[in-house]
Amino acid sequence: LDDTLSVLENWDLIVVSNRQPYRHTFDDNDEIAVDRPAGGLTAGLDPVVQQTDGTWVAWGDGDADREATDDANSVRVPPEDPAYTLKRVWLSESDVADYYYGFSNRVLWPLSHSLENKVTFEDRHWERYREVNQQFADSVVDSVATDDGSVGTETDDSNSLVWFQDYHFGLAPQFVREEVGDEALLSHFWHIPWPEREVFRDCPHQTELLRGLLANDLLGFHIPDYCANFLDCVATILPEAAVDWESWTVEREGHECRVRSFPMGVDTERIAEYAAAPDEGFWAEFRAEYGIPEDQAVAVGIDRLDYTKGIPERLAAIEHLLETEPNWLGEFTYVQKATPSRTEIPEYRELGRQVDRDIERINERFGTDDWQPIIEIEDYLTEEALYGLCRHSDLAIVSPLADGMNLVAMEYVSAQIDHTGVLLLSDRAGADDLLGDAAVTIDPTDTETFASRLDLALSMPDEERQRRMRALRSVVATTNIQSWMADVFDATLALEQQVDTTETD
Ligand code: G6P
Repeated sequence: LDDTLSVLENWDLIVVSNRQPYRHTFDDNDEIAVDRPAGGLTAGLDPVVQQTDGTWVAWGDGDADREATDDANSVRVPPEDPAYTLKRVWLSESDVADYYYGFSNRVLWPLSHSLENKVTFEDRHWERYREVNQQFADSVVDSVATDDGSVGTETDDSNSLVWFQDYHFGLAPQFVREEVGDEALLSHFWHIPWPEREVFRDCPHQTELLRGLLANDLLGFHIPDYCANFLDCVATILPEAAVDWESWTVEREGHECRVRSFPMGVDTERIAEYAAAPDEGFWAEFRAEYGIPEDQAVAVGIDRLDYTKGIPERLAAIEHLLETEPNWLGEFTYVQKATPSRTEIPEYRELGRQVDRDIERINERFGTDDWQPIIEIEDYLTEEALYGLCRHSDLAIVSPLADGMNLVAMEYVSAQIDHTGVLLLSDRAGADDLLGDAAVTIDPTDTETFASRLDLALSMPDEERQRRMRALRSVVATTNIQSWMADVFDATLALEQQVDTTETD
């Protein structure tokens, strides 16, 4: 990443994401305080944007954010040592309802995960998605530096590289392109799956979305399958676009968009440090606090409470195992850490109720005075506690029905510094492409086989556990968040010649 960063320093980097890297809040004394990025992409990207003194455009949320922000909607971050500009886009309540909860999360999210029965479409969702994409695009255009200052308000000699994150911005690239022409490189990473053409064809406004995304110079997905699905959609839905299947390039109205896969990873070293940080008594105390009996195998599941994550399917497999293999009764505990998410959406609330009901039923059915088969952790866990839990759990169960990549699988492996755990992984997660050989793979909807794989994983001899975990760890060490960013930036910068650099040359 360091080499890439030194090249990037000559560019104006503009990152666009729905969630912001720093969020202002009011503390108990009504003073402004700041929440920092907790992990994942935001934490990984933040140092890059700091080092390049770039700009980050994101949804500003709440009174404290407003108070901390100047008239140009900007605030310098991080607060203690300002290194870049965070530009906030303000969304009204109805923007949030229709753009975020509506089109993004009730249409694009379920559709991209091929869960069509969860799609709810209303015209106003789309209209607001369009308007909010325009708002974000306006903010980007304002920041694009040009040779003569003709576009945007900034004027310096470097070129701009805009990096859009995710499905919230299907239209913004086109809106930006219409204003800046070739003055900026536009790159986009779609963090969730791209569905097969039969599914995407159900998408209202499919042509606008494809055209919006094709305005990018580079469009990235986690795995080749999603790229192929996207190209297939373009080839069959957009008559004016030409797909080159050799180079995965789409030509449309004189503009070329490359489509490529970049499997994302996690910050392996940082996670390993957190996992190693707690003192020796940590695990015994953790078990005591949550009522996990000593000397029992522990399986863990860590998820956002989302219907794509396959939590009810996982609970059904655990129930089936306890039913059919009673030797496991009182021998292992499953710890579920589920973080509530998008609770304004009825399907998410219903999932929460279903998970609670399932856990209650299984515990009532099989639990004893001193053992509950399932323990649900609702408390906030620090990173040390979370990765400590991963380090000490004998098994992680990652069972999504569909998932762009699934970084929890990689976090678990990164925290496994003693090489003693087993990863049970859905063959429908993007991560299966990388980790499927050394993980124990499952089809989350096939309860019987899922249960027998659980049995196999729990009984696996130490030697085999270690062999598999070492193989998994060598993959996550090389496919990490830093190498992912470097790959995306390198591939984007390799398209530099497409940008009009004549004047600066
Ligand atoms: C997924 C998406 C992200 C999103 C995250 C959390 O990982 O790809 O873009 O930020 O879920 O969801 P939320 O809706 O709370 O931002």
